[in-house]
Amino acid sequence: MTDPTAPVQGGAAALAAPVVARTRDELREARAGLDDGDVAVVMTMGALHEGHATLIHRARATHRHVVVTIFLNPLQFGPKEDLSRYPRTFDADLEICTAAGVDLVFAPTPDVIYPDGDPGVRVSAGPLGDVLEGQARPGHFDGMLTVVGKLMHLTRCSAAYFGQKDAQQLLLIRRMCRDLDFPVQVVSVPTVREPDGLAMSSRNTYLTQSDRETALCLSAALRAGAGAAAEGPSAVRRAARAVLVREPLALIDYLVLVHPDTLEDVPEWYRGEALLAVAGRVGTTRLIDNLPVLVGPGGGALEIFSQT
Ligand code: PAJ
Repeated sequence: MTDPTAPVQGGAAALAAPVVARTRDELREARAGLDDGDVAVVMTMGALHEGHATLIHRARATHRHVVVTIFLNPLQFGPKEDLSRYPRTFDADLEICTAAGVDLVFAPTPDVIYPDGDPGVRVSAGPLGDVLEGQARPGHFDGMLTVVGKLMHLTRCSAAYFGQKDAQQLLLIRRMCRDLDFPVQVVSVPTVREPDGLAMSSRNTYLTQSDRETALCLSAALRAGAGAAAEGPSAVRRAARAVLVREPLALIDYLVLVHPDTLEDVPEWYRGEALLAVAGRVGTTRLIDNLPVLVGPGGGALEIFSQT
């Protein structure tokens, strides 16, 4: 008989693979075994990387049970977006979940989540869903909130972990839980970056080597902007823009310094927390990044920004 506590390669203790539920019945059954009211969920679209793993580790450190959902939600993709080419790496995803000590993976197909086809009733993101990413991707945030709401109900989670990388998404999920009384604690996790500063993203696999170098201008611009934070909003915008204009191959959609709660441009007199956010196309890939900054005396980045 094998000893389940015996060390495996590298000396790490063997971890049990999570239960994988594909249907609502399987989820209900597996979820019943976790019932003690302290269940954290990490929602993903798969193609897991170190950013997702960090969310899982944070959840694991605080909660008795961790559920990961892997669902490529068609409702949040526009007709011209990358749903069909989005990377699908389920086996590798499961390995990451196993190594991180996840209890349960819910990996449904669209017909499980939307048994009657596209839902007629959806969550509306409201005005905050129409700006920035919402302007570039109409309907995206309604589709995202609809699935996040459904997954909160289906997993019956008490906490849900989301990345600061998708700052507008995080803000809208917080607002949904508050405005619609979802009894879920929303926890944010700072953006996880490659050593050279590029924010980790499942979409980075689309980048060619030269795209990858071009893409560095996004995080470099945020860093430059944060470096000017003590001098006020226009200095931040100017410093960030100066980096972007040096990289004509990055087609910038927006570079903004906004209030973190309203997503409105902060005026020149503003001092306090703000969000410096950028989006653009590099090659065939749309990338987003952001950095929370403190504007004013002693200002700078509010997130640790690793750099080489
Ligand atoms: P996905 O892009 O797979 O991201 C899942 C979660 O991982 C989100 O909370 C996202 O903000 C976080 N994340 C992604 N990259 C990160 C990074 N570099 N550092 C920290 N966190 C990171 O976001 C979605 O999926 C979907 O919209 C979803 C919420 C699952 C709804 O379909």
